Amino acid sequence: MTDACRIDIAAALDALPAFPRLRGQRVCLRGPCPGDADALFALFSDPAVMRYWSRSPMAARGEAEGRIAEIVEDFAARKALQWMIAARVDDAVIGTCSLFRFDPRHRRAEVGYALRSDHWGRGLAREAVALALEWGFRTLGLHRIEAGIDPRNAGSRLLLARLGFTSEELLRERYRVGGEAGDIQLFGLPAPGMR
Ligand SMILES: CC(C)(COP(=O)(O)OP(=O)(O)OC[C@H]1O[C@@H](n2cnc3c(N)ncnc32)[C@H](O)[C@@H]1OP(=O)(O)O)[C@@H](O)C(=O)NCCC(=O)NCCS
Repeated sequence: MTDACRIDIAAALDALPAFPRLRGQRVCLRGPCPGDADALFALFSDPAVMRYWSRSPMAARGEAEGRIAEIVEDFAARKALQWMIAARVDDAVIGTCSLFRFDPRHRRAEVGYALRSDHWGRGLAREAVALALEWGFRTLGLHRIEAGIDPRNAGSRLLLARLGFTSEELLRERYRVGGEAGDIQLFGLPAPGMR
């Protein structure tokens, strides 16, 4: 039995005293605060960021406030963690990174992420997502983290490959956004000792 097997994932989630704060060299993952609404709106109203997202772009700032309330609720229920990706220099929110769909029985979860388009291509998403993956494997004892992306999403595919994920399966007609049907490419990453 590996050390990760000894962690009770549901209990580890329950035992979190607060939204975990994870520090990298250039970014920090932290919980949201009400002052993040403008930054979240800027992120999720950008058509470039939302091109392959599972929802249409936000149209009003109030949606970002609502999203912050949902993130707080989801964390309180230990249903999902949607971290703010904040720049270490000034704590400005430049993206989000989530672990969600926790399945304690099968020791797996899903990861999602979005970065402001004026920050793409600088390795910041790689740094942020790596922090969340490492925390999920080490602190929660997950055995597998998966990601489902639109197969046309080149940036996301390259990011996942860079993080060690492998492409596993194409799920056809998996979702609909704005009347358009989309496929999902499933990627998986086993825990470090299991690769
Ligand atoms: C997916 C996303 C977070 C990637 O952000 P990013 O800033 O490009 O990521 P990084 O700079 O950390 O890049 C990671 C790797 O992918 C490569 N890469 C990323 N986008 C690329 C592109 N369009 N073309 C070529 N290479 C690309 C980078 O060069 C880097 O490789 P390297 O480490 O070998 O240099 C960003 O494109 C995004 O927010 N997209 C919109 C939201 C989204 O679609 N999320 C996924 C839905 S689940």
